[in-house]
Amino acid sequence: MYNSKITGMGMYVPDNVVTNKDLTSLMDTSHEWIIERTGIEERRHIKKGDGNTTATMGVKAAKIAIERADIDKNDIDLILFATLSPDYYFPGSGVIVQQHLEIPTCPAMDIRNQCSGFIYALATADQFIKTGMYKNILIIGSENHSGGLDMTTRGRGVSVIFGDGAGAVVLSRSEDPNKGILSTHLHSEGQFAEELALIGPSTNRWVPEILEANDPTDISYYPNMNGQLVFKNAVVRFSEVIMEGLQQNKMTPEQIDMLIPHQANLRISQFIQRKFGLNDDQVYNNIMRYGNTTAGSIPIAMTEAWEEGKIKSGNLVVLAAFGSGFTWGSALIQF
Ligand code: UT7
Repeated sequence: MYNSKITGMGMYVPDNVVTNKDLTSLMDTSHEWIIERTGIEERRHIKKGDGNTTATMGVKAAKIAIERADIDKNDIDLILFATLSPDYYFPGSGVIVQQHLEIPTCPAMDIRNQCSGFIYALATADQFIKTGMYKNILIIGSENHSGGLDMTTRGRGVSVIFGDGAGAVVLSRSEDPNKGILSTHLHSEGQFAEELALIGPSTNRWVPEILEANDPTDISYYPNMNGQLVFKNAVVRFSEVIMEGLQQNKMTPEQIDMLIPHQANLRISQFIQRKFGLNDDQVYNNIMRYGNTTAGSIPIAMTEAWEEGKIKSGNLVVLAAFGSGFTWGSALIQF
């Protein structure tokens, strides 16, 4: 068995900053409400015509990760693309990335696990590398939320939270048994599938059917979230899945050098921090600046933490996520 380690990371967010104050001109909300309930100060939104899509943002992040990994793009054996907002209904965004990177052939696969998508992709890549099947895997988490949010008072419970952006890592084969991904832990609970979901258009509600109904009250094409239920489950599942990873590796919370939680809500991250007795310098948060970028949030945060010198060789880094599905997961990484 081989080991797998992160050899390069990159991130990209659109230039267009949308502050809480900007949102007050679109809907009945306030900077104070958003800060108090979520910790978000601003987020990035793609601007029409700026050339950004879910895949192209992923490409920008990927190019940085590939350069830092010091490999040729043609050495990539597999592309894994995590998103809930793919460029097209089909094909997936992984092949669009391949097209833009001009990699003639290699497998490209999309992972549909929303906020946990990056951890699901990392776990998938880890298996391919540990078994010796692939040497270098490009993993991208990217979201274009802004174009599909209800930016009116009706949608304020969801739309103030989400932002656009992408992060990427290169995961490579390593023969050092003491470094790399120690373990990954994945869970889902489908009974809550519709509690955070975008139901239509879909194969349950094909577009012609929606157009024919011409129902102005039908807002099934906007994401729908039972915020309080998601919040309550998130704090429980985050805690469980971090503890599961620590226990499997016979470690304790004090050994965590950096916890990078999926940036769902600053209140959730702070709850987890208190629960595990971690200091401010043991938890990385950037939701204040980017909002919740779903599959993009962990690779964006991990890249920033690394760029700021907060992840160093020898550090134990814990990633954890919870979201739509419900799905959740964690990864323990020895840098
Ligand atoms: O990454 C995926 C996972 N997602 C999450 O983890 C999200 C988890 N949930 C949450 O973070 C929180 O539930 C929210 C931040 C989404 C909402 O906070 P909340 O404290 O649960 O608020 P609420 O939905 O219970 O709404 C409280 C009040 C309501 O007004 P009334 O009925 O009390 O008069 C809402 O209409 O706040 C109102 N409200 C707003 N007011 C101003 C909801 N959204 C807004 C808003 N601005 N943007």
